[in-house]
Amino acid sequence: MTNNFLDTLSGTAHETPPIWLMRQAGRYLPEYRKVRASQPDFISFCLNPEKAVEVTLQPIDKFGFDAAIIFSDILLVPWAMNRNVRFVTGQGPLLDPLVDPSDINEDDLGLIASKLAPVAESISLCRGKLAREKALIGFAGAPWTIITYMLEGQSSRDFATARKWMWDNDRQFDEVLDIVTVATIEFLEIQARAGADALMLFDSWAGAVPAHFRRRVVSEPATRIIETLRQRGITQPVIGFPKGIGDGLIAYCDDTPVDVVGLDHGVDIAWAAKHLPRHITLQGNLDPLSLIAGGKAMDHAIGSILEAVAGRPHIFNLGHGITPETPEAHVHELVNRVRGQMS
Ligand code: CP3
Repeated sequence: MTNNFLDTLSGTAHETPPIWLMRQAGRYLPEYRKVRASQPDFISFCLNPEKAVEVTLQPIDKFGFDAAIIFSDILLVPWAMNRNVRFVTGQGPLLDPLVDPSDINEDDLGLIASKLAPVAESISLCRGKLAREKALIGFAGAPWTIITYMLEGQSSRDFATARKWMWDNDRQFDEVLDIVTVATIEFLEIQARAGADALMLFDSWAGAVPAHFRRRVVSEPATRIIETLRQRGITQPVIGFPKGIGDGLIAYCDDTPVDVVGLDHGVDIAWAAKHLPRHITLQGNLDPLSLIAGGKAMDHAIGSILEAVAGRPHIFNLGHGITPETPEAHVHELVNRVRGQMS
């Protein structure tokens, strides 16, 4: 049986694009909230393969998406490097801010694969349960996005601490970037070897990097990650998601070996279809908040996306993660609309 999603990733355009949604396993689903409430804390939940697989499959069972994304988190990487990561309800992630590169013990890098082995186990367990025509995505945060959490200690509005580091502590910044890049490679490699069909690199805060530094902080680490994986025999396609870089996407597509580029909802997808290289598959980019409204406005926005990418390989997705307030009925509407069925 063919796999529409993987086929599109390797460059085939389908009249009906495959669809999945970022954060599709999450709090908008009552069955997710139920499992979450049974877990002692978010990190042990992520590291519990049986529970992680259960919630990974929930949105596939309910909406029939073409791909599942393994339930885990990008902040498992700093956790595995002993950065004291915890998730506080209502506050999001909290970390003890890093003040010097020596706060990371480089020897800890050797422990990434063993500390994050439960994620690899979730992947192989999940691949075994998932229908053959559905793909399974493994993922990691891109180094810059991970570094923002490590330096700021939490989510941030303008990432001032991390940006100041870039300007003031040039050499130390590169040192941290190097360490996190190596850790990211290790994390993606174990997921690929465990059976992930595709890998996604989330650079959620790429838009905060000054254009002057974008190549060094966004594109070069992505390139090094993908090239190293290829040298190690990992052949799965890679989806890059440099959120918020606007027309910087042109250079990102030229400079990195990504197979697919994720577009956030700030990008005019008709512009992307015209200016981004044709050998790169596009993914995105409906505003997640349109799903709260649903109805005609959402319908119209979906129509514009489908029209803009007609004839080129495209994976339907949101421009960022689905929000907890989203009504399930609107997700059904979205899937039906993309698949050309009346709701
Ligand atoms: O369904 C999926 O997409 C798979 C699982 C997934 C999670 N996090 C589970 C999660 C994925 C792909 C992520 C990626 C992630 N995590 C990113 C990159 C994507 C993005 O949204 O930009 C980032 C920046 C994080 C870090 C993170 N994890 C934050 C900032 C938070 C708290 C904010 C929030 O939405 O609550 C998390 C927690 C988290 N990760 C939740 C889920 C389902 C919600 C926490 C909960 O259930 O209590």
